Amino acid sequence: MTRNKVGEVFLSGKGLTRVFGSGDNKTIAVNNVDFEFRRGEIISIVGESGSGKTTLAKMVLGLLGISGGEIFFEGKPRDISSQAKRKLYWRNIQAIFQDPFSTYNIFNKVDAVLDDCLRLQGNGNLGKEEKFEAMKDACKFVNLKFEELSNKYPFELSGGQMQRLMIARIFMLKPKVLIADEPTSMIDACSRATILDMLLKLRDEIDMTIVFITHDIGLAYYISDTVYIMEHGVIVERGTADEAILHPTSDYTKRLLGDVPKIYEPWDFTKTTA
Ligand SMILES: Nc1ncnc2c1ncn2[C@@H]1O[C@H](COP(=O)(O)OP(=O)(O)OP(=O)(O)O)[C@@H](O)[C@H]1O
Ligand SMILES: [Mg+2]
Repeated sequence: MTRNKVGEVFLSGKGLTRVFGSGDNKTIAVNNVDFEFRRGEIISIVGESGSGKTTLAKMVLGLLGISGGEIFFEGKPRDISSQAKRKLYWRNIQAIFQDPFSTYNIFNKVDAVLDDCLRLQGNGNLGKEEKFEAMKDACKFVNLKFEELSNKYPFELSGGQMQRLMIARIFMLKPKVLIADEPTSMIDACSRATILDMLLKLRDEIDMTIVFITHDIGLAYYISDTVYIMEHGVIVERGTADEAILHPTSDYTKRLLGDVPKIYEPWDFTKTTA
C-alpha cells in the first residue's frame, strides 16, 4: 500500500555490518546492509528468527556498536560520540521492543516514566500542572487513565496496559523515527489492531517514520510502503509492499511466502466460484 505523504530520505545506512564473537564462534549477524528511510514512511523488516533484524535495529538506535559501514542522519554521518549527542539523537529516534520491561526502569512508577519523557524532550522544567496535563493527554491518546495508573510500577500493569504506556511515551517524545520490534506479539488480536491504529494515527499526526520488525508477512503487506526481507544478515529483497510480497525475486522470499496463509493476496474478482 503506498501513501502519498512519504517525504525525503533522512535516515540511511551504508554497508552496515555487525559481527559477534570470533573464530569458531563468529556470527555475522548483519552483513553489508544498505537502507534508506524516508519521512512519514512505513517500513517493515521481515525475516526468520535469527536473521539479524533486532541487531540491525539496535545499531540504528545506537544501542549496539557497528563493526562496519556507516549511518547517516539528516544528511550527515551520525555522531553519537558523547552522552549529550546520544541524548539528542534519541529525541529523534525511539523504539518499542519485544519485551516491554526492557524499556522501563522497573523502579520507576508510571508518572516517573512519563516525566522522564518530558525531560528527554527538554521540558523537564515545566510547572507541575502543565506536566500533569501533558501526561494525562498522552494517557488519553492510548486509552489509559493516568489517575488510575500513575502510582503503579510497570510490573503492576497488564501486558496490554504496558504496551499502551509504551505508546504514550512515544506520543510524548514525538520522535521522527519509531522502530517497533514485534510490538504486538504479547497481546491479543483486538488490542493488536488498536495498537497498530494508534501508531498509524501518530504517524499521520506527526509525520513519524515507523519501522516495523516482524515475522508477519500479512501485516507487512497491509501496512508498509516499503518492505525489506532479511536472511542470515543480508537484505535479499527490497521494494514496495506489492513488489516485495506479490512479485518477489529472491528464492528466500518465495519460500517465506510459501509458509504463510495467503491473506496478503488481493481478491481476484475475475475468478468466479461455482
Ligand atoms: N549479543 C550477542 N552475542 C552474540 N551473538 C548474538 C548477539 N545478539 C545476537 N546474536 C546473534 O546474531 C544473530 C541475529 O540475531 P537477532 O537477534 O538480530 O535476530 P532476529 O532477526 O531479531 O531474530 P528474532 O526474530 O528471533 O527476534 C543470531 O544468530 C544471534 O544468535
Ligand atoms: Mg529480534
